[in-house]
Amino acid sequence: MFLNSLLFLREIALSQTSKTTSYNDIPYESFPFQQTHPDRLATIARLFGLQSPNVETCKVLEIGCASGNNLLPMAEYLPNASFLGIDLSINQIAEGNKLLKTLALSNIELRCQDILDFNEETKFDFIIVHGIYSWVPAPVQEKILAISKKNLSPDGVAYISYNVLPGWHMRGMIRDMMLYHSSKFPDNVSKISQAKGLLEFLSKSVQGDKNPYGIFLQSELELLRKQNDGYFFHEFLEENNFPVYFHEFSAAVNRNGLKYLGDSDVRTMSTRDLTPEAQQLLTTTPSMIETEQYMDFLRNRMFRTSLIVHDDKKPVYNLNAADIVKFNVTSNLTPAEQNMDLHSSNPGQFIAHDGTAIGTSEPLMKAVLVYLYESSPNSMTTGEIIAGACKKLGLNPPLAAEEIAKLTAQIGQTLIMAYTSLPVGSLELTTRPINRSCLVSSKPRAFKLAQIQAVTMGMITNARHQMIKLGDFEKVLLPMLDGKTDVSEIISTFKDMVNTNKIIVKDGGTQADATRVGEIIQMQVENALKTLTKNGMLVA
Ligand SMILES: C[S@@+](CC[C@H](N)C(=O)[O-])C[C@H]1O[C@@H](n2cnc3c(N)ncnc32)[C@H](O)[C@@H]1O
Repeated sequence: MFLNSLLFLREIALSQTSKTTSYNDIPYESFPFQQTHPDRLATIARLFGLQSPNVETCKVLEIGCASGNNLLPMAEYLPNASFLGIDLSINQIAEGNKLLKTLALSNIELRCQDILDFNEETKFDFIIVHGIYSWVPAPVQEKILAISKKNLSPDGVAYISYNVLPGWHMRGMIRDMMLYHSSKFPDNVSKISQAKGLLEFLSKSVQGDKNPYGIFLQSELELLRKQNDGYFFHEFLEENNFPVYFHEFSAAVNRNGLKYLGDSDVRTMSTRDLTPEAQQLLTTTPSMIETEQYMDFLRNRMFRTSLIVHDDKKPVYNLNAADIVKFNVTSNLTPAEQNMDLHSSNPGQFIAHDGTAIGTSEPLMKAVLVYLYESSPNSMTTGEIIAGACKKLGLNPPLAAEEIAKLTAQIGQTLIMAYTSLPVGSLELTTRPINRSCLVSSKPRAFKLAQIQAVTMGMITNARHQMIKLGDFEKVLLPMLDGKTDVSEIISTFKDMVNTNKIIVKDGGTQADATRVGEIIQMQVENALKTLTKNGMLVA
């Protein structure tokens, strides 16, 4: 009997490991996605009037985690939370586990497992399913929703992204042509190059810059030129690709005892960008699901990032400016001028990380945004923001409850508007205070993952879960930030590198004069440490 059970177990193990997936041969480059971060999911739940799980101690499941690059930075920055990632590709999971071993994190598991075989009883506060749902067959889609029901904690939030119609019809047309053409070639490498070649050929050959078909092919070509082969193959040449209409997705969610809460990119839930006629007409739709569906028709939307909760939840969608007190605020918006005039009503500009600019001529709001910028990467409560902004304007913080309520509403309206209308990551509301080291110690220490990423990718994941591109200087600097090396030793190491011609230091575009090298290196190290501090990358 015992022997039989052992044989049975061995059979199961063999059947699991022998499951093949195209992701073993052509891995999907895995990145952090800010829109999936527990901070964002918890905030949106709270914004819409729901209780949200404690982010610091939450349990997170990622389904289809590839090599874990979305979960690993979360695990390092949230040491008291726990993370489980599953993926069918044994090679991708092995790559993730190799990095995990170096990081020596004990709060994360990356497991090779088929979604269909996931039968845990554990409840998770956040379930992340990014880039899977419309790329797997119907039984796997159903299982994803079943897991989202069974394994989501009562106040939990699931994030599911997927390709949507009608937008994907246009991309689907390109996919069909590429599949037809590439089917004549035997291996995946030739399929990829032939499919890309076909798109180049079509966009060159379809004449006329006024021809809508030619314009569309050209814009798709531009987009696809920026994508790596892994993305290209799995998006266009992969067997499974089943975009759905939003209303179909919402109905499937409902069938599983869940409901749609909103979009992780809350900007898309607003009708602000539509014509006045369209905005007016959409006020007459009987449900939010219909409104969102018609917005997809108007925008020709191709991709959604939906948040899902249990169907007993009753979200409230009327945003109230005074609700700002439920959040901590952290801002990435950089003042366009160094010494902005806060007292006059001259317009002041603030720039988001993607270059989007917002302007305000209100002295109070200019003072709020400058104060938040100076306080970043740390978050501030509404009380702290009022006190900080008043100090900047040379005013005493108000004491009377009425006055405080008036300022809170004024600040709340602008900050909530900024959160719901700016690109993800420009200004964040969080459900927890964020306190990161703002002092550069004499022996600075960067988070371990960033030290590794600087060498392997030339990019690092910051504390806001954003990818930051590094300059050549920072790529060399980061591995030295090990908490054991003094800043003066770091500067000496750079000087040695210059003396042995390993690096060149430039001064205004040309090679620096030997007498200026030390000074320039010191300045570069100090600036780089400041930037890393602003990104929350240094351990206290
Ligand atoms: C398009 S990739 C997305 C990866 C990652 N979430 C991202 O967005 O970067 C799809 C992932 O789902 C995994 N996958 C596909 N079918 C699966 C299944 N049945 N069980 C577990 N993982 C699966 C693949 O191995 C692959 O890593």
